[in-house]
Amino acid sequence: MEKRVFKTQGDTARALAAYIAEYVEKGNDPVNIALSGGSTPAELFSILAEKYSRSIDWGKVRFFWVDERCVPPDHSESNYRMTAERLLSRVSIPDENVFRIKGEDNPRKEAERYSSLIKSEVREEEGLPAFDIILLGMGSDGHTASIFPDQLELLKSGNICEVAIHPETRQKRITLTGPVINRGRSIVFLICGSGKKDMLGKVLQGDPLFPASHVNPDRGEMHFYLDESASPD
Ligand code: 6PG
Repeated sequence: MEKRVFKTQGDTARALAAYIAEYVEKGNDPVNIALSGGSTPAELFSILAEKYSRSIDWGKVRFFWVDERCVPPDHSESNYRMTAERLLSRVSIPDENVFRIKGEDNPRKEAERYSSLIKSEVREEEGLPAFDIILLGMGSDGHTASIFPDQLELLKSGNICEVAIHPETRQKRITLTGPVINRGRSIVFLICGSGKKDMLGKVLQGDPLFPASHVNPDRGEMHFYLDESASPD
């Protein structure tokens, strides 16, 4: 496990963008990347669009989502919408390389559809799809993807995707499950801001109460990209 700490959120995003660019350059075509949403990755996506639009061979990259809110793609809370605005609309990635979770559809049916799609599109390793990069964030409650502390069973699900429910807003989400996340070849946490510091300390100590503590690659790598304000030490 590699932990890299940077002075600012911008420095952290720039370093992670460089890591992704290098991974894609060295990776075999296609490079399957599962993206998280929320607010933290927004700057990373902008940097990828602004600084790597020409240097990354976007035809090699295929984007999937780690999770999505069950809202339409033009909704302000859509992870897809944020990614499209910050990145997808600004680089030459073929439309067929973008595999959006259809948040507007029936959640149960979409979880099944997306599971089947991943099964057919992402190379399997010992029975589970193995994404090249899985980009994760962490909530101040210790959730990651859309696996919340009151739904720890999603860490052990036999399905590739499940329907989750945000504990406060009761908003439904589609999420990758724990076994698929842990099959990732490179699992990258991008965590910034002082609001995450205390929880990150608990997660790094492996506190089992929190879903992010249960992210441990089966055989891949795990990287933490942190700014100083989020870093516990
Ligand atoms: C989502 C994300 C979620 C996110 C954390 C952190 O759909 O919200 O996938 O897991 O990574 O909630 O969100 P922030 O970056 O906004 O703090």
